[in-house]
Amino acid sequence: MLDVTNDVVLSLRNVEVAFPLRKGFFAKPGLLRAVNDVSLDVRRGEFISIVGESGCGKSTLVKTLLGLQPATAGTISINGKDLGDYSRKELAHQVQPIFQDPYSSLNPRKSVAANIALPLILSEGLKPSQVRDRVLEIMEMVSLPTRLEHTYPSQMSGGQRQRVAIARALITRPKILICDEPTSALDVSVQAQILNLLRDLSRRLNLTSVFISHDLSVVRHLTQRVAVMYLGRVVELGESEHIFRTPRHPYTQLLIRSILPPDPEHRLPPVAWDGGGPDPTNPPSGCHFNTRCPYATDICRIERPPMVEAEGVRVACHAWSDPEAWRAANGEIPQLS
Ligand SMILES: Nc1ncnc2c1ncn2[C@@H]1O[C@H](COP(=O)(O)OP(=O)(O)O)[C@@H](O)[C@H]1O
Ligand SMILES: [Mg+2]
Repeated sequence: MLDVTNDVVLSLRNVEVAFPLRKGFFAKPGLLRAVNDVSLDVRRGEFISIVGESGCGKSTLVKTLLGLQPATAGTISINGKDLGDYSRKELAHQVQPIFQDPYSSLNPRKSVAANIALPLILSEGLKPSQVRDRVLEIMEMVSLPTRLEHTYPSQMSGGQRQRVAIARALITRPKILICDEPTSALDVSVQAQILNLLRDLSRRLNLTSVFISHDLSVVRHLTQRVAVMYLGRVVELGESEHIFRTPRHPYTQLLIRSILPPDPEHRLPPVAWDGGGPDPTNPPSGCHFNTRCPYATDICRIERPPMVEAEGVRVACHAWSDPEAWRAANGEIPQLS
Protein backbone atom coordinates (compact mmCIF):
# COMPACT_ATOMS: atom_id res chain seq x y z
CA MET A 1 0.00 0.00 0.00
CA LEU A 2 1.25 3.47 -0.79
CA ASP A 3 1.97 6.00 1.88
CA VAL A 4 -1.19 8.03 1.55
CA THR A 5 -1.97 10.55 4.23
CA ASN A 6 -5.04 12.68 4.47
CA ASP A 7 -3.30 15.94 3.56
CA VAL A 8 -5.02 17.46 0.60
CA VAL A 9 -2.34 18.56 -1.84
CA LEU A 10 -4.56 19.53 -4.70
CA SER A 11 -8.06 20.88 -4.30
CA LEU A 12 -10.48 21.83 -7.05
CA ARG A 13 -13.79 23.51 -6.35
CA ASN A 14 -16.37 23.99 -9.09
CA VAL A 15 -13.69 24.43 -11.72
CA GLU A 16 -14.87 25.46 -15.15
CA VAL A 17 -12.78 25.94 -18.28
CA ALA A 18 -14.85 27.39 -21.10
CA PHE A 19 -13.64 28.25 -24.58
CA PRO A 20 -15.47 30.97 -26.51
CA LEU A 21 -16.85 29.81 -29.84
CA ARG A 22 -18.22 31.64 -32.80
CA LYS A 23 -20.00 29.30 -35.13
CA GLY A 24 -20.49 31.91 -37.83
CA PHE A 25 -19.91 35.60 -38.23
CA PHE A 26 -23.50 36.52 -37.35
CA ALA A 27 -24.06 33.79 -34.79
CA LYS A 28 -24.11 34.59 -31.09
CA PRO A 29 -20.80 33.57 -29.59
CA GLY A 30 -21.22 30.26 -27.77
CA LEU A 31 -19.19 28.51 -25.14
CA LEU A 32 -17.59 25.11 -25.06
CA ARG A 33 -17.33 24.04 -21.45
CA ALA A 34 -14.42 21.63 -21.74
CA VAL A 35 -14.37 21.38 -17.94
CA ASN A 36 -17.72 21.90 -16.30
CA ASP A 37 -18.02 22.33 -12.53
CA VAL A 38 -15.37 19.86 -11.40
CA SER A 39 -14.63 19.45 -7.69
CA LEU A 40 -11.93 17.07 -6.52
CA ASP A 41 -9.48 16.67 -3.65
CA VAL A 42 -6.23 14.80 -4.18
CA ARG A 43 -4.24 13.68 -1.14
CA ARG A 44 -0.47 13.57 -0.64
CA GLY A 45 1.09 10.42 -2.06
CA GLU A 46 -2.04 9.48 -3.94
CA PHE A 47 -2.01 8.15 -7.51
CA ILE A 48 -5.28 9.19 -9.11
CA SER A 49 -6.42 8.60 -12.68
CA ILE A 50 -8.76 10.59 -14.84
CA VAL A 51 -10.50 8.50 -17.47
CA GLY A 52 -13.09 9.09 -20.15
CA GLU A 53 -13.44 9.21 -23.90
CA SER A 54 -11.39 11.49 -26.09
CA GLY A 55 -12.69 15.06 -25.85
CA CYS A 56 -14.22 14.74 -22.36
CA GLY A 57 -11.88 17.42 -20.97
CA LYS A 58 -9.02 15.46 -19.36
CA SER A 59 -6.17 17.39 -20.96
CA THR A 60 -7.86 20.75 -20.48
CA LEU A 61 -8.32 19.97 -16.78
CA VAL A 62 -4.67 19.10 -16.24
CA LYS A 63 -3.42 22.05 -18.30
CA THR A 64 -5.37 24.20 -15.89
CA LEU A 65 -3.66 22.51 -12.93
CA LEU A 66 -0.31 23.28 -14.54
CA GLY A 67 -1.19 26.95 -14.93
CA LEU A 68 -1.15 26.58 -18.73
CA GLN A 69 -4.86 27.22 -19.20
CA PRO A 70 -6.84 29.60 -17.00
CA ALA A 71 -9.97 28.38 -15.26
CA THR A 72 -12.99 30.50 -16.16
CA ALA A 73 -14.70 29.76 -12.84
CA GLY A 74 -14.03 27.99 -9.56
CA THR A 75 -10.88 27.68 -7.49
CA ILE A 76 -7.79 25.50 -7.55
CA SER A 77 -5.44 25.33 -4.62
CA ILE A 78 -2.13 23.53 -4.31
CA ASN A 79 -0.90 22.83 -0.79
CA GLY A 80 -3.48 25.23 0.56
CA LYS A 81 -2.49 28.17 -1.65
CA ASP A 82 -4.46 29.45 -4.59
CA LEU A 83 -2.93 28.49 -7.92
CA GLY A 84 -3.04 32.13 -9.06
CA ASP A 85 -0.90 33.20 -6.09
CA TYR A 86 2.06 31.07 -7.19
CA SER A 87 4.78 32.61 -9.30
CA ARG A 88 5.92 30.57 -12.33
CA LYS A 89 9.07 29.65 -10.43
CA GLU A 90 7.20 28.53 -7.32
CA LEU A 91 4.75 26.55 -9.41
CA ALA A 92 7.62 24.70 -11.11
CA HIS A 93 8.55 23.34 -7.68
CA GLN A 94 5.00 22.21 -6.99
CA VAL A 95 3.80 20.60 -10.18
CA GLN A 96 5.43 19.23 -13.32
CA PRO A 97 3.99 17.55 -16.41
CA ILE A 98 4.83 14.52 -18.47
CA PHE A 99 3.08 14.66 -21.81
CA GLN A 100 2.20 12.00 -24.31
CA ASP A 101 4.79 12.72 -26.92
CA PRO A 102 8.41 12.81 -25.80
CA TYR A 103 9.39 13.57 -29.41
CA SER A 104 7.79 16.99 -29.38
CA SER A 105 8.11 17.83 -25.68
CA LEU A 106 11.93 17.70 -25.73
CA ASN A 107 14.15 20.26 -27.41
CA PRO A 108 15.88 18.42 -30.28
CA ARG A 109 18.77 20.91 -30.39
CA LYS A 110 19.71 20.38 -26.76
CA SER A 111 21.53 17.42 -25.26
CA VAL A 112 19.83 15.07 -22.86
CA ALA A 113 21.52 16.76 -19.89
CA ALA A 114 20.51 20.22 -21.11
CA ASN A 115 16.91 19.12 -21.61
CA ILE A 116 16.75 17.65 -18.13
CA ALA A 117 18.41 20.67 -16.50
CA LEU A 118 16.24 23.28 -18.17
CA PRO A 119 13.39 23.62 -15.63
CA LEU A 120 15.92 23.95 -12.81
CA ILE A 121 18.02 26.49 -14.69
CA LEU A 122 14.92 28.53 -15.54
CA SER A 123 13.34 28.40 -12.11
CA GLU A 124 16.51 28.84 -10.02
CA GLY A 125 18.63 30.92 -12.37
CA LEU A 126 21.49 28.44 -11.96
CA LYS A 127 24.40 27.81 -14.34
CA PRO A 128 24.62 24.43 -16.11
CA SER A 129 27.77 23.53 -14.12
CA GLN A 130 25.84 24.02 -10.89
CA VAL A 131 23.15 21.49 -11.79
CA ARG A 132 25.20 18.68 -13.35
CA ASP A 133 25.36 16.53 -10.20
CA ARG A 134 21.63 16.80 -9.82
CA VAL A 135 21.10 15.91 -13.50
CA LEU A 136 23.26 12.78 -13.18
CA GLU A 137 21.48 11.79 -9.97
CA ILE A 138 18.10 12.11 -11.66
CA MET A 139 19.30 10.18 -14.73
CA GLU A 140 20.19 7.29 -12.45
CA MET A 141 16.85 7.54 -10.74
CA VAL A 142 15.03 7.04 -14.04
CA SER A 143 17.49 4.32 -15.15
CA LEU A 144 19.10 6.34 -17.93
CA PRO A 145 22.80 5.50 -18.24
CA THR A 146 24.71 8.67 -17.30
CA ARG A 147 27.01 8.15 -20.29
CA LEU A 148 24.06 9.37 -22.40
CA GLU A 149 24.21 12.87 -20.92
CA HIS A 150 25.69 14.39 -24.09
CA THR A 151 23.52 12.56 -26.61
CA TYR A 152 20.56 14.18 -28.35
CA PRO A 153 16.93 13.10 -28.14
CA SER A 154 16.96 12.07 -31.80
CA GLN A 155 19.60 9.45 -31.02
CA MET A 156 17.41 7.77 -28.42
CA SER A 157 14.55 5.28 -28.45
CA GLY A 158 11.01 6.39 -27.59
CA GLY A 159 11.23 4.81 -24.15
CA GLN A 160 14.55 6.53 -23.40
CA ARG A 161 13.12 9.85 -24.53
CA GLN A 162 10.20 9.45 -22.18
CA ARG A 163 12.70 8.71 -19.38
CA VAL A 164 14.38 12.03 -20.25
CA ALA A 165 10.99 13.75 -20.02
CA ILE A 166 10.38 12.12 -16.63
CA ALA A 167 13.83 13.16 -15.40
CA ARG A 168 13.15 16.71 -16.55
CA ALA A 169 9.83 16.71 -14.69
CA LEU A 170 11.51 15.53 -11.49
CA ILE A 171 14.52 17.82 -11.51
CA THR A 172 12.73 20.61 -9.61
CA ARG A 173 11.60 18.09 -6.95
CA PRO A 174 7.91 18.77 -7.56
CA LYS A 175 5.22 17.56 -5.17
CA ILE A 176 2.76 16.74 -7.94
CA LEU A 177 3.35 14.92 -11.19
CA ILE A 178 0.83 15.27 -13.98
CA CYS A 179 1.00 12.54 -16.61
CA ASP A 180 -1.17 13.08 -19.68
CA GLU A 181 -1.28 9.81 -21.64
CA PRO A 182 2.44 9.30 -20.91
CA THR A 183 2.74 6.00 -22.76
CA SER A 184 0.28 6.29 -25.66
CA ALA A 185 2.98 7.29 -28.14
CA LEU A 186 5.28 4.41 -27.13
CA ASP A 187 5.64 0.87 -28.39
CA VAL A 188 3.58 -1.58 -26.39
CA SER A 189 6.77 -3.36 -25.33
CA VAL A 190 8.09 -0.30 -23.48
CA GLN A 191 4.80 1.00 -22.10
CA ALA A 192 4.89 -1.30 -19.07
CA GLN A 193 8.47 -0.28 -18.22
CA ILE A 194 7.56 3.40 -18.22
CA LEU A 195 4.40 2.80 -16.21
CA ASN A 196 6.31 0.76 -13.63
CA LEU A 197 8.93 3.49 -13.44
CA LEU A 198 6.26 6.13 -12.83
CA ARG A 199 4.64 4.04 -10.13
CA ASP A 200 7.95 3.26 -8.40
CA LEU A 201 9.10 6.88 -8.51
CA SER A 202 5.76 8.06 -7.13
CA ARG A 203 6.18 5.73 -4.18
CA ARG A 204 9.82 6.46 -3.59
CA LEU A 205 9.47 10.21 -3.73
CA ASN A 206 6.01 10.26 -2.11
CA LEU A 207 4.70 12.16 -5.11
CA THR A 208 1.10 12.92 -5.74
CA SER A 209 0.33 11.74 -9.26
CA VAL A 210 -2.51 12.66 -11.54
CA PHE A 211 -2.56 10.22 -14.41
CA ILE A 212 -4.60 10.47 -17.56
CA SER A 213 -5.22 7.51 -19.77
CA HIS A 214 -7.91 6.19 -22.02
CA ASP A 215 -6.51 2.70 -21.40
CA LEU A 216 -8.57 1.33 -18.54
CA SER A 217 -6.55 -1.84 -18.10
CA VAL A 218 -3.51 0.32 -17.33
CA VAL A 219 -5.47 2.50 -14.94
CA ARG A 220 -6.90 -0.44 -13.06
CA HIS A 221 -3.57 -1.79 -11.88
CA LEU A 222 -1.71 1.46 -11.50
CA THR A 223 -3.93 3.75 -9.53
CA GLN A 224 -5.72 3.96 -6.24
CA ARG A 225 -8.53 6.28 -7.21
CA VAL A 226 -10.32 6.99 -10.45
CA ALA A 227 -12.31 9.99 -11.62
CA VAL A 228 -14.52 9.26 -14.61
CA MET A 229 -15.28 12.27 -16.81
CA TYR A 230 -18.05 12.69 -19.32
CA LEU A 231 -18.44 15.87 -21.38
CA GLY A 232 -16.50 18.01 -18.93
CA ARG A 233 -18.09 16.69 -15.74
CA VAL A 234 -16.88 14.11 -13.23
CA VAL A 235 -19.62 11.47 -13.14
CA GLU A 236 -18.03 8.91 -10.83
CA LEU A 237 -15.19 9.05 -8.34
CA GLY A 238 -13.86 6.42 -6.00
CA GLU A 239 -11.32 3.74 -5.19
CA SER A 240 -10.05 2.10 -8.33
CA GLU A 241 -10.72 -1.47 -7.15
CA HIS A 242 -14.22 -0.54 -6.13
CA ILE A 243 -15.07 1.19 -9.39
CA PHE A 244 -13.65 -1.55 -11.58
CA ARG A 245 -15.41 -4.26 -9.60
CA THR A 246 -18.79 -2.58 -9.33
CA PRO A 247 -19.09 0.54 -11.46
CA ARG A 248 -22.22 2.50 -10.53
CA HIS A 249 -22.64 5.07 -13.26
CA PRO A 250 -24.04 3.62 -16.49
CA TYR A 251 -21.29 5.44 -18.39
CA THR A 252 -18.58 3.86 -16.24
CA GLN A 253 -20.26 0.49 -16.75
CA LEU A 254 -20.12 0.93 -20.50
CA LEU A 255 -16.49 2.03 -20.38
CA ILE A 256 -15.48 -0.94 -18.27
CA ARG A 257 -17.50 -3.38 -20.34
CA SER A 258 -15.50 -2.31 -23.35
CA ILE A 259 -12.40 -3.94 -21.79
CA LEU A 260 -14.17 -7.08 -20.59
CA PRO A 261 -15.00 -10.21 -22.58
CA PRO A 262 -18.52 -10.14 -24.11
CA ASP A 263 -21.44 -10.72 -21.74
CA PRO A 264 -22.75 -14.19 -22.69
CA GLU A 265 -25.95 -14.02 -20.61
CA HIS A 266 -27.09 -10.68 -22.05
CA ARG A 267 -27.80 -9.40 -18.56
CA LEU A 268 -26.75 -5.94 -19.65
CA PRO A 269 -28.45 -3.83 -22.27
CA PRO A 270 -26.71 -3.27 -25.58
CA VAL A 271 -24.04 -0.63 -25.60
CA ALA A 272 -25.56 2.68 -26.56
CA TRP A 273 -22.49 4.00 -28.39
CA ASP A 274 -23.59 5.88 -31.44
CA GLY A 275 -20.14 6.77 -32.60
CA GLY A 276 -19.50 10.42 -32.08
CA GLY A 277 -21.52 11.19 -28.96
CA PRO A 278 -23.18 14.52 -28.24
CA ASP A 279 -21.94 17.88 -29.53
CA PRO A 280 -19.82 19.40 -26.73
CA THR A 281 -20.85 22.90 -27.81
CA ASN A 282 -24.49 21.98 -27.24
CA PRO A 283 -24.53 19.27 -24.57
CA PRO A 284 -27.78 17.49 -23.65
CA SER A 285 -29.73 19.10 -20.81
CA GLY A 286 -30.05 17.34 -17.47
CA CYS A 287 -27.58 14.50 -17.22
CA HIS A 288 -25.16 14.94 -20.14
CA PHE A 289 -25.12 11.18 -20.60
CA ASN A 290 -28.90 10.81 -21.02
CA THR A 291 -28.78 10.60 -24.83
CA ARG A 292 -26.63 7.49 -24.66
CA CYS A 293 -27.83 5.98 -21.40
CA PRO A 294 -29.93 2.81 -21.70
CA TYR A 295 -31.75 3.66 -18.43
CA ALA A 296 -32.52 7.35 -18.96
CA THR A 297 -35.91 8.58 -17.77
CA ASP A 298 -37.61 11.98 -17.83
CA ILE A 299 -35.75 13.38 -14.85
CA CYS A 300 -32.42 12.51 -16.52
CA ARG A 301 -33.38 14.71 -19.46
CA ILE A 302 -34.34 17.64 -17.25
CA GLU A 303 -32.27 17.80 -14.08
CA ARG A 304 -28.55 17.57 -13.61
CA PRO A 305 -27.93 14.72 -11.16
CA PRO A 306 -26.10 15.73 -7.99
CA MET A 307 -22.95 13.90 -6.84
CA VAL A 308 -24.05 11.47 -4.13
CA GLU A 309 -22.38 8.78 -2.04
CA ALA A 310 -23.35 5.34 -3.25
CA GLU A 311 -21.86 2.36 -1.48
CA GLY A 312 -18.43 3.87 -1.02
CA VAL A 313 -18.07 5.81 -4.28
CA ARG A 314 -19.37 9.17 -5.42
CA VAL A 315 -21.60 9.14 -8.42
CA ALA A 316 -23.69 11.68 -10.35
CA CYS A 317 -26.66 9.64 -11.57
CA HIS A 318 -30.34 9.99 -10.73
CA ALA A 319 -30.62 6.24 -10.23
CA TRP A 320 -28.27 6.57 -7.25
CA SER A 321 -29.72 9.74 -5.73
CA ASP A 322 -32.58 7.72 -4.24
CA PRO A 323 -31.94 4.11 -5.28
CA GLU A 324 -35.06 2.68 -3.62
CA ALA A 325 -37.41 5.11 -5.31
CA TRP A 326 -35.61 4.52 -8.60
CA ARG A 327 -35.92 0.73 -8.32
CA ALA A 328 -39.59 1.00 -7.43
CA ALA A 329 -40.28 3.16 -10.47
CA ASN A 330 -37.83 1.86 -13.04
CA GLY A 331 -36.50 -1.46 -11.85
CA GLU A 332 -32.99 -2.49 -10.95
CA ILE A 333 -29.97 -1.26 -12.87
CA PRO A 334 -28.08 -4.45 -13.74
CA GLN A 335 -24.57 -4.52 -12.31
CA LEU A 336 -21.43 -5.70 -13.95
CA SER A 337 -20.02 -8.65 -12.10
N1 LIG B 1 -7.94 25.68 -27.03
C1 LIG B 1 -9.17 25.18 -27.26
N2 LIG B 1 -10.13 25.91 -27.88
C2 LIG B 1 -11.36 25.42 -28.10
N3 LIG B 1 -11.76 24.18 -27.74
C3 LIG B 1 -10.85 23.40 -27.12
C4 LIG B 1 -9.51 23.84 -26.85
N4 LIG B 1 -8.84 22.84 -26.22
C5 LIG B 1 -9.71 21.81 -26.12
N5 LIG B 1 -10.91 22.14 -26.65
C6 LIG B 1 -12.12 21.30 -26.68
O1 LIG B 1 -12.38 20.96 -25.33
C7 LIG B 1 -12.87 19.62 -25.25
C8 LIG B 1 -12.00 18.80 -24.33
O2 LIG B 1 -10.74 18.61 -24.96
P1 LIG B 1 -9.54 17.86 -24.22
O3 LIG B 1 -9.37 18.46 -22.87
O4 LIG B 1 -8.38 17.87 -25.12
O5 LIG B 1 -10.12 16.39 -24.06
P2 LIG B 1 -9.38 15.00 -23.74
O6 LIG B 1 -8.01 15.30 -23.25
O7 LIG B 1 -10.25 14.33 -22.72
O8 LIG B 1 -9.39 14.23 -25.03
C9 LIG B 1 -12.94 19.10 -26.68
O9 LIG B 1 -14.24 19.27 -27.17
C10 LIG B 1 -11.94 19.99 -27.39
O10 LIG B 1 -12.28 20.10 -28.75
MG1 LIG C 1 -6.14 14.64 -24.01
